[in-house]
Amino acid sequence: NIHIMIISLIKILFLFFVCVYSDPIPDTSDKCLSCQDQVKSLEYIWTNATTVEEILNNLNSECKSTFPITNPMKRQVCEGLASIFVQIPPSLFKGMDDLAWPIPEAPCALLMQCQMNCCGESDPPEQVHLSLASDDYSVMGVSWVTLSSKRSIVQYGLSESSLTKIVSGDTTTYRASGWVGTIHRAKMTGLEYGTKYYYRVGNGYDSWSDIFYFTTMTPFQDVTYAVLADMDFDSSNTISNLIDLVSSDSIDVVIHSGDISYADGYEPHWDLFFNRMQPIVAYVPYMVTPGNHEFWFNFTSYKKRFYLPGVLDEGGSGDGMYYSWNCGKTHFIAGNSETAIDTANFSTNFINWLENDLKSVDRELYPWVVAHFHRPFYCSNSNACTTKGGNTLRSEAEQLFYDYKVNIGLYGHVHSYERTYPLYNSTTVQFNYENPQGTVYILQGGSGNREGNDGYPTELPDWSSHRESAVGYGIMTIKDSIITFDYYESRLSSDGGPILLDSFDMTTWGN
Ligand SMILES: [Fe+2]
Repeated sequence: NIHIMIISLIKILFLFFVCVYSDPIPDTSDKCLSCQDQVKSLEYIWTNATTVEEILNNLNSECKSTFPITNPMKRQVCEGLASIFVQIPPSLFKGMDDLAWPIPEAPCALLMQCQMNCCGESDPPEQVHLSLASDDYSVMGVSWVTLSSKRSIVQYGLSESSLTKIVSGDTTTYRASGWVGTIHRAKMTGLEYGTKYYYRVGNGYDSWSDIFYFTTMTPFQDVTYAVLADMDFDSSNTISNLIDLVSSDSIDVVIHSGDISYADGYEPHWDLFFNRMQPIVAYVPYMVTPGNHEFWFNFTSYKKRFYLPGVLDEGGSGDGMYYSWNCGKTHFIAGNSETAIDTANFSTNFINWLENDLKSVDRELYPWVVAHFHRPFYCSNSNACTTKGGNTLRSEAEQLFYDYKVNIGLYGHVHSYERTYPLYNSTTVQFNYENPQGTVYILQGGSGNREGNDGYPTELPDWSSHRESAVGYGIMTIKDSIITFDYYESRLSSDGGPILLDSFDMTTWGN
């Protein structure tokens, strides 16, 4: 029996890794190949020191011959420009390296000289992810990607062998950075509360995903959330820990507050990220807000790839940039702290919407209000929290948070973990979490990305209650009158599994 189990396991793993995702087809058009040749030769020239020196010498002699010694000013300007000219290309290549852009593919994609296909030739659905696309728990949103299939069909039902219900969805796409793919979005409707459903997505006849499952919410139930921010496509420890949690039914929803995948304009990294996240977010809803790394092409990839409340319904910004959602006993505000030029700001539209939204919350039904957005109001280890953005964001929204008793503010952007005591106007309201009369802020931007995590200074403000620098994830359980928040270090099971680094409880806002 053990042999049969091992062979079955190997078969499942083989199917999972081989059949679900096939490699994207590379663009071999003349246009793309010639662009790649040019970029490669530029890279060779500009990363070869001797040649760069030769270029500079040649440019300088050009300056000397064009501007005679009698005109030293012009000659100096010419030589200055020559020196800048030789420095720019190497710094460009260095910049591409920092963005994890493969050369020559990424620059040629950005210049729209190469097509970047989302998926493999056989066109199976991939990158499947769920979302609470409506406050109505009888509805579950699902989104996936194919290379070209335009039909969006979801089959679902109460068992794997009985996927009796069928809905069709719609498709969208975008062409930024040469990306080619079809994004499918559909809503499973008529679901019973608190019930396990099985589903698959595909074209309706010969191309289907694997069968996944999810359990619908029951109104006002206890809910456990995984809390992420600033996690890139290569964050293997955190992703593997979350896969374990989903497999053991230990989390109900994933919240990711911006800096999602770190694709940074190279679109195949979005595809890679979603495929790595599929074993998590094909089973539990994935609720997100935009971060600064999504600002490329005015957030096009973010707006298209997530199917969030307001995207096809009324509500919020209408494009997933900000919205609100209810889950269990909590009203969530998903905020947008970003601008198209990578600065911190809550727009006037968002602030006006926020006030109306907060006003309309029935606190008898939803005793908890949690806001999640990307940039921090408070943190003690980076000036991003004060002069570079925290001051702006606090001046725009902190009063509303206080007036409408927002219990928790969740954010990332700074790569570490820190929880504050209940706060208002940069002042600690109380040094415990019993009926707090201020908002508690949790920085959780430490989920793992190529930029690394940040340490802490020795001098700390009195509102900073606990800090961690290890790569990890938050687990937040919200019950009737208590929230428990845990921070775990992400580690592979071969290293002994995740380690609990922080845990605290808080009760609802005091009178
Ligand atoms: Fe960020």
